[in-house]
Amino acid sequence: MLRALARAAQSAALLPAAASGMGGAAAEALAPTAAAAAVCGGRAAWLRLPAARRAFSAAAEESGESISVTFKDEKDGSEKTVKAPLGKSILEIAHENDVELEGACEGSLACSTCHVIVEDQEYYDKLPEPDDDENDMLDLAFGLTDTSRLGCQVKCHRYMDGIVLRIPSASNNQQ
Ligand code: FES
Repeated sequence: MLRALARAAQSAALLPAAASGMGGAAAEALAPTAAAAAVCGGRAAWLRLPAARRAFSAAAEESGESISVTFKDEKDGSEKTVKAPLGKSILEIAHENDVELEGACEGSLACSTCHVIVEDQEYYDKLPEPDDDENDMLDLAFGLTDTSRLGCQVKCHRYMDGIVLRIPSASNNQQ
C-alpha cells in the first residue's frame, strides 16, 4: 500500500508531460485526467486512470506501431526479443510469441502468474502506476521485487521500446 501511494504522488507529477507527448484521441483522453490528478493530488483522481489507459490502448493499437520487448526466462535462462504492437499487454505479447508467461486468470487480476520483473529501474519508472488491485495481487506474487509488475496490466507504449522483462522461475496461483 505504501509503495502504491508513494508512486502515485511521483506519477501525478509526470503524467502531464507524458500526455503532451501523445497525439490525437489518446492525449485528449489522458490530459483531463492528468490535470485532475495534478490539482487533486489524491487517490480519488487516480481512480479515473483506467479509462484513460483504455483510450490510449485503442488509439495506439490502431496506429500499427510496435516496440521491441525482451523476455528473459529464469526457469531455463532463455532469452527472446519480440516485436510488440503498441496498446497490447505484455501478457498478450508473450502468448503471441510463444513466451512462457502463464496468465492463468487471463488478465482478470486473480492469479499473479503473469508476474514479470522489469530489469532496468529506468524503464520501470516510466510505466504508469499500478492500481490498488494490481498491487494487492502483486503482494502475493512469487519472488516479488521493487520493479515487479503484472504482465496482464501493462500495455505497450512507445517509451517502453527496448524494455527487458524477467520471468521468475516460479509463480503463485491464487485462483
Ligand atoms: S493473468 Fe492473472 S493476474 Fe494477470
